[in-house]
Amino acid sequence: MSPPRDNGLAPAAPRPGQTILVAGGAGYIGCVLVPRLLERGYHVRLLDRLYFGEDALAGFRDRVEVVRADVRDVPADALDGVDGVINLSGLSNDPTAEFNPEANWQMNAVATETLGRMCVDRGIERYVFASSCSLYDGLPPGMHDERAPLEPRAAYATSKRYAEEKLLELAGEGLVPVLLRNGTVYGYSPRMRFDLVVNTFVKDALLNGKLLLHGGGWMWRPLVDVRDVSDAMIAAFEAPAEKVRGEIFNVVHSNYQIRELALIVAGSVQLAGHQVTLEEVPAPKLTRDYECSNVKLASTLGFVPRRSVLEAVTDLLERIDGWDRAKLTDPRHYNIRWLELLEELKPSLSEFESVL
Ligand SMILES: NC(=O)c1ccc[n+]([C@@H]2O[C@H](COP(=O)([O-])OP(=O)(O)OC[C@H]3O[C@@H](n4cnc5c(N)ncnc54)[C@H](O)[C@@H]3O)[C@@H](O)[C@H]2O)c1
Repeated sequence: MSPPRDNGLAPAAPRPGQTILVAGGAGYIGCVLVPRLLERGYHVRLLDRLYFGEDALAGFRDRVEVVRADVRDVPADALDGVDGVINLSGLSNDPTAEFNPEANWQMNAVATETLGRMCVDRGIERYVFASSCSLYDGLPPGMHDERAPLEPRAAYATSKRYAEEKLLELAGEGLVPVLLRNGTVYGYSPRMRFDLVVNTFVKDALLNGKLLLHGGGWMWRPLVDVRDVSDAMIAAFEAPAEKVRGEIFNVVHSNYQIRELALIVAGSVQLAGHQVTLEEVPAPKLTRDYECSNVKLASTLGFVPRRSVLEAVTDLLERIDGWDRAKLTDPRHYNIRWLELLEELKPSLSEFESVL
């Protein structure tokens, strides 16, 4: 495995007693971020509904406080002694947001704002929010930066945009919101997701020996490694307030065409001794096709995501080659499949009726 190059995250400095509340910290990104925060000396309070269970916390469970709670109803004492918040909670992709749009709105939009308001009331300044480059979906194909005029339409992007706007408003009341629009994330996490394009390709290559290229796979996507996203969150958390208050940053390693990703994955999996073929299939009705600039993150924060898809795939293969079919296809690794199984997230009859 090649050693990762420096991404510009400042060396850890002593910060005795600093407590960070990580909402949604038991998820895919959270399970990579939390150990990094612990390494830097933070005390971590993890607030999570634990939809995907607790197994992935095993590596650090005894070193964090876990508050099993819903971000829609944060217990007041969850913020006691907290110096700042990183919010990763809520429904984290288009299919789950479309599955239950009301729950998505309450979690991703309303609860994000309410948590910001709670911080203001308690004098907690720093609030790093996990937004998404999918906000650029719907714009003409091409390179977009943080100033692009957005036209979110889908439930997920609309809720993320509302949350961004409300947090930006709270900057006028003393909050230091930092909004990170993450590209699609790749790489290994103890809370593994196989519903993200690169990870899906690795899983498909191992399981089926075949990768499907919808519409030839010419669409562009901004992408970033889960370790770099975590470090970018730390950089945003630690940056001087005057540099980041009310700022939006795209967090992207590179823009790739899906076809290029398939070739990287197929090559890596073949090197690991498995046959892989590529097959072109018709494009679905809706495709996502956009590119995002990562210039501002580097120029303002000095942070440059360094871990390429090739590095992440190599690392992922070392970790999951040998997983059996049952483990690779466990519905917990696919957000929509898992949430469809959870009784409490099934949309109520009244919600169905309201859209009829
Ligand atoms: N993974 C990506 O490619 C990506 C890209 C852009 C943005 N993001 C954003 O980053 C954040 C984290 O993404 P992830 O990939 O780790 O997602 P994830 O689904 O793995 O993790 C989300 C976590 O939030 C928790 N959660 C969900 N609803 C909750 C609620 N109502 N109350 C408390 N906890 C709740 C879940 O139990 C889970 O642990 C999300 O906000 C997502 O929208 C992710």
